[in-house]
Amino acid sequence: MKEVDMVSNPFKPSAGHLPPILIGRETILADFNEALEDGPGAPGRLMRVTGPRGVGKTVMLAEFSNTVKALGWQVIAETARKDIVQRLIERLQPVKGNFRFTIDPSISVMGVGGSLGGVSYEKQHHIVDLSDALAIRLDELDKKNSGLLVTIDEAQSIERDDLTEIATAVQNMTIAHRNIAFVFAGLPSMASKWLNNEATTFIRRAQYEPLGEVPLEEVSEALRDTFQDTGLWLDGDPLHVATQATAGYPFMIQLVGYHIWRNANRRRNGETEAFAVTDADVRSGISSALTRLGDTVHGPELDGLSPVDKTYLLAMAQDDGPSSTSVIAERMGKDVRYASRYRARLLEAQVIVEKGYGWVDFAVPYLREYLREHAAYVRMTSSEEG
Ligand SMILES: Nc1ncnc2c1ncn2[C@@H]1O[C@H](COP(=O)(O)OP(=O)(O)OP(=O)(O)O)[C@@H](O)[C@H]1O
Ligand SMILES: [Mg+2]
Repeated sequence: MKEVDMVSNPFKPSAGHLPPILIGRETILADFNEALEDGPGAPGRLMRVTGPRGVGKTVMLAEFSNTVKALGWQVIAETARKDIVQRLIERLQPVKGNFRFTIDPSISVMGVGGSLGGVSYEKQHHIVDLSDALAIRLDELDKKNSGLLVTIDEAQSIERDDLTEIATAVQNMTIAHRNIAFVFAGLPSMASKWLNNEATTFIRRAQYEPLGEVPLEEVSEALRDTFQDTGLWLDGDPLHVATQATAGYPFMIQLVGYHIWRNANRRRNGETEAFAVTDADVRSGISSALTRLGDTVHGPELDGLSPVDKTYLLAMAQDDGPSSTSVIAERMGKDVRYASRYRARLLEAQVIVEKGYGWVDFAVPYLREYLREHAAYVRMTSSEEG
């Protein structure tokens, strides 16, 4: 039996934090492990992890990092931002040795002194591109029989030139059979960016791992176990209500767990015997969780959208389930072609998902309820374009 931790809340309702139990991700973890075992060139050594906000993409990257670190591999974890290629190269700087890379995106020559194409470089300054930098690090790692994992989060935001260089490096390393794995995580829109770029033909073949909701039976089990490990008893009806409220959405699992745990822990007041979580703990915990979900996911999500996008969503929120795209157009007072432009934008932003031909639904749970509750405000901020 595990030691009972009387103080800290085990749930982690914050971006990228490993949850107490990683629920429902056995398949993708097995795919990744298999790719490591199968060695260089295995398809799973180039992976694309996608899904809506809060589904657990960043957590998967962290879990992969832990997996390879346990094997003695090195990890370079980056998030897409300006100059990501430069940052990657900087992080690949040799740890030992008396030379540093000089980075010039227009040159990809390594030398030991002299002048080339009007650019001079010194003995200590090797001019490299991303492929060179990776190759040098991998040479080092080969000596120790270990490998390198490169993860790139928010990959939908990689800028075009950086994407080209990264894609080229991935291709070079793979063709050269190097002991490396690349995992890209981001919103599904990254795929459409890769489509518009010739250099990305290769990484388009990355193994596709879409993350979605996790099964409620597993949520239920994980909630019960996590509470039990901290001396709290959550079972029966309260457990059922808590489980349903998560909708299998990972961020909501942590929020619900966190707030219910907090309520019960406050009541037990240092009590060390197994202490039962009540209906009231659960109900008030869910309500706090929903408020937090609205503030941290739904609110910011809507803020980033155009007025017409929001009008589209308000039209959807009138339905209790999936919405017919032609009915939405009607509600908006527009033709189907006009409405479909906004549907495409919202699909791309992963705010909505397709539910069969001509039907759409919200991509994250409770957005419908949030829109209804805040309809007056949302309508106000979506009125500029009508
Ligand atoms: N498999 C899982 N089981 C339980 N909780 C999880 C799981 N995956 C993620 N979480 C929890 O969900 C929350 C969101 O995870 P994470 O930040 O990885 O999502 P994300 O997909 O990267 O979101 P974003 O697109 O906003 O960056 C975190 O609180 C994390 O602890
Ligand atoms: Mg993330």
